[in-house]
Amino acid sequence: MNYHILTLFPDMVLEGLNTSIIGRAVQKGIIGIHGINIRDYSKNKHRQVDDYPYGGGAGMVMQPGPVCDAYQDLCRKLGKRPRVLYMTPQGKVFSQKIARELAQEEDLVFLCGHYEGIDERALSLIVTDYLSIGDYVLTGGELPAMVMIDCISRLVPGVLSNEESAQIESFYDNLLEYPQYTRPETYEGLKVPEVLLSGHHKNIETWRRQESIKRTLERRPDLLEHASLSKKDREFLRELTEISQERACVQENIVIE
Ligand code: ADE
Repeated sequence: MNYHILTLFPDMVLEGLNTSIIGRAVQKGIIGIHGINIRDYSKNKHRQVDDYPYGGGAGMVMQPGPVCDAYQDLCRKLGKRPRVLYMTPQGKVFSQKIARELAQEEDLVFLCGHYEGIDERALSLIVTDYLSIGDYVLTGGELPAMVMIDCISRLVPGVLSNEESAQIESFYDNLLEYPQYTRPETYEGLKVPEVLLSGHHKNIETWRRQESIKRTLERRPDLLEHASLSKKDREFLRELTEISQERACVQENIVIE
């Protein structure tokens, strides 16, 4: 997988992704992260890439020329026209499902805007996907690009040392991950659940599955609708919801038939 980031701040993205698991994957040559400075494509002697908005209003707008020229130059070098993901709060909200789909590509271009955004004509000419990382506004697209690159990369084969860990974690199968414990056995009077010390693999597996379901019900009940639950899982979920209903009734002093 090769990422090409069109930005005014390539160092920000390159330095941010140069550590830990993603940094190691770059070192190993499993992924490539290439920063392209849009300013290098300015035809202005001051290397300016933005200008006042037509029609007036606050802020500056990034001009279409440098953005499109940077992309066309990349396409010439690659001999193909990869997908261009524009980082914008107006886009579709990024998710694990979108990450899985994007991880299948060989090359991805991340277009990061700044100021009041990018001239609409550049967007209409090159952008294939409008993506957001959530309903809040940041000062630029670099952090969203880094978030997405991190998330997509861990789905690229060979990036995680233990390939299974990508499968077991939160959002795989729309369930949150079960709680994890390590040494010491007791910390501040809090004990590691007995079952995890038992060495009984079947019981541990059952406990973890049930903790995942419990946690998802408590923290992200919206996910359960899309989770693939076995008959046993559904029985456990029913028990959990009955218990919480009973608790609510006790609190409200309601008698259940
Ligand atoms: N640019 C500014 N805010 C953003 C957001 N929430 N998601 C993606 N790109 C952005």
